Amino acid sequence: MKMETNVVLVTGGLGCIGAWTLYHLAQRGVKAICFDLGSSRHRLNLLMSADEQEAITFVPGDLTDFEQVKAALQDHGVTHIVHLAALQVPFCRANPVMGAQVNVVGTVNIFEAAKQTGIKHLAQASSIAIYGTPEEYTDITGDDGLIPNKALPNPHTLYGVYKVAGEGIASVYWGENGISSTALRPYTVYGLGRDQGMTSEPTKAMQAAAAGQPFHISFGGTMQFQWASDAAQQFIEAAFCPTEGAHAYNLGGVPITVEAAAAIIRGIRPDAQITVDPKPLAFPRGFDDAALRAAMPVYETPLEEGIRATLEGFERARM
Ligand SMILES: NC(=O)c1ccc[n+]([C@@H]2O[C@H](COP(=O)([O-])OP(=O)(O)OC[C@H]3O[C@@H](n4cnc5c(N)ncnc54)[C@H](O)[C@@H]3O)[C@@H](O)[C@H]2O)c1
Repeated sequence: MKMETNVVLVTGGLGCIGAWTLYHLAQRGVKAICFDLGSSRHRLNLLMSADEQEAITFVPGDLTDFEQVKAALQDHGVTHIVHLAALQVPFCRANPVMGAQVNVVGTVNIFEAAKQTGIKHLAQASSIAIYGTPEEYTDITGDDGLIPNKALPNPHTLYGVYKVAGEGIASVYWGENGISSTALRPYTVYGLGRDQGMTSEPTKAMQAAAAGQPFHISFGGTMQFQWASDAAQQFIEAAFCPTEGAHAYNLGGVPITVEAAAAIIRGIRPDAQITVDPKPLAFPRGFDDAALRAAMPVYETPLEEGIRATLEGFERARM
């Protein structure tokens, strides 16, 4: 990775994975441009001091406005893109039109602006929400209980439909314009800054444990947890890993029950009062990441280590 001439635009840079992406870019000495509609740096403040944030250029902007997106690329000499900005499941459900504008039109805007400014490759966030329920994949579920990367999408939320569209937009920009891309599909991201979205509750439980407060997680079942720090580094890897085509990869991890994740929290902080509803979410227990592993190095901090770092981070933030 030649870093000194690189300038990375991070859309949704003030979100959870975005803040971690800005943090890791700064750690590596890479110039980062944060493009976000919001102005609150509360997630970034959990990771970086005000002095450290001086290295980042903050561009307030709306992804749904093509001219703003193109100007952000042009004005700052952007060479690489990590496209994360999106409305998550509850926000798309509450406002489907705006969800489509941000998640679908916004993604077209990023690809089109990349094309018009000569950027040949980018990384973007998809989601395991592109897939259907476990019952729909019984024929192709592996012995390990994982769903293969090539399983056909069948989203049950508009958010999932928009993410399928994002992957489709990427395919067409490769086919018609030669813009390559890598989409990554996280499952349940946890860590400092994960304060919104359907699967943010395990992180909220960690925050409550750090504050000595009780917390009830409203879903159970088995899932894959990915530390936001690892997810961010994976997106950076994907943005800097040139490829042929438009690829989409499941992130992996060892499937574990939400109850077992709560037990890890209790193991680290024995006074934590976390309860878990047994009702699972309507997603398969896990997704195979062999395709990602074949394409690039994989970041996979053991869950206990990531949870410990998260608890310590929340405790530091309370001081
Ligand atoms: N967190 C997860 O578990 C998870 C799982 C699967 C996929 N993803 C995907 O990863 C990406 C990042 O997730 P996150 O948890 O960091 O999300 P987040 O909700 O924490 O952050 C999203 C950011 O996008 C910004 N944004 C929203 N609309 C915008 C607009 N019109 N213009 C510019 N910025 C706008 C918001 O201000 C926010 O800072 C998203 O695309 C999400 O769908 C996340």
